[in-house]
Amino acid sequence: ASQLIIDTDPGVDDAFAISLAALSEDVDLLGVTTVFGNVPLEHTTRNALRVLQLCGRADVPVAAGAARPLIHPQAARAGHIHGEDGLSGRSAALPEPERDIEPGGAIKLLVGLLEEAGEPVTIAPIGPLTNIALLLAAHPHVKAKIDRIVLMGGGVNRGNTTATAEFNIWSDPEAARRVLVEENVPCVMVPLDLTYKCAVDAEWLAKLAAGGPIGAALNALTPDYLASYRRSLGWDGIVLHDAVAVAEAIRPGILRTETYPIEVETSFGPGRGSTLVDSRLPGLRGEGEGAGAPSTVQVAMDTDVDGLGEFVLG
Ligand code: BDR
Ligand code: CA
Repeated sequence: ASQLIIDTDPGVDDAFAISLAALSEDVDLLGVTTVFGNVPLEHTTRNALRVLQLCGRADVPVAAGAARPLIHPQAARAGHIHGEDGLSGRSAALPEPERDIEPGGAIKLLVGLLEEAGEPVTIAPIGPLTNIALLLAAHPHVKAKIDRIVLMGGGVNRGNTTATAEFNIWSDPEAARRVLVEENVPCVMVPLDLTYKCAVDAEWLAKLAAGGPIGAALNALTPDYLASYRRSLGWDGIVLHDAVAVAEAIRPGILRTETYPIEVETSFGPGRGSTLVDSRLPGLRGEGEGAGAPSTVQVAMDTDVDGLGEFVLG
């Protein structure tokens, strides 16, 4: 099985994504690190522990990372979508964690796991990229141990937090720019354009709930999340953004990717936190711009939506 580390801010869709990896036989989940994001760090950390407890995976080490962005404060959280506790106000329904977090914090855990790994590891960041930016800046030697970074974030033709910015990137644009543009590590970006195409409906959730106690517990976290997505989708469904990215981390190739030049907007204009994916036809790129090869990422643009839904259902 390939080896995976998840960096996360649970988050309803994060809870689904963590469970998918924790229960998968195709992947060895080495560790989970937490970051501020949807809700403050103390909540995201507790939620990560609870979700792993639910999955019977208290053996997976958890460590807490950044409580705030690298430079500028996060302007808003997402408690209105994920609930003030991060799990629709229903986190207390999950089992209490029977163990504590690792001492020393997320960066120490990441460095230790990567140094010890026999083969390169996949990292799946599904929250703001602050921990990953700190890791790469302070411990560049671990880059050789990273197979690829498969992240949920950004948008090609849409935003969700502003007209053009997606929440994870917008929460710490400077960190995102470091990871996606400056560090030259192989990245697969799973943007909103694709995650919205993979929205699941009430029937899918009912099947999940009927599948067993873990599915039922995950489904029980969704009522408020459903209500918030009903407004944006216009029908009864939810978008499990982070599970789409973690599916690709578990099963490489389940998403179809295209390689494009990328920039991240860090100025304080209306585009702050946007990903600029250069999907122009190759002949139109680069003309009139400065010399030098641009940074590129693989952007997940498409998938077999029904097949992915079945995969996540397990
Ligand atoms: C991303 O933002 C968070 O609210 C979700 O958990 C996901 O990681 C979607 O924009
Ligand atoms: Ca998330």
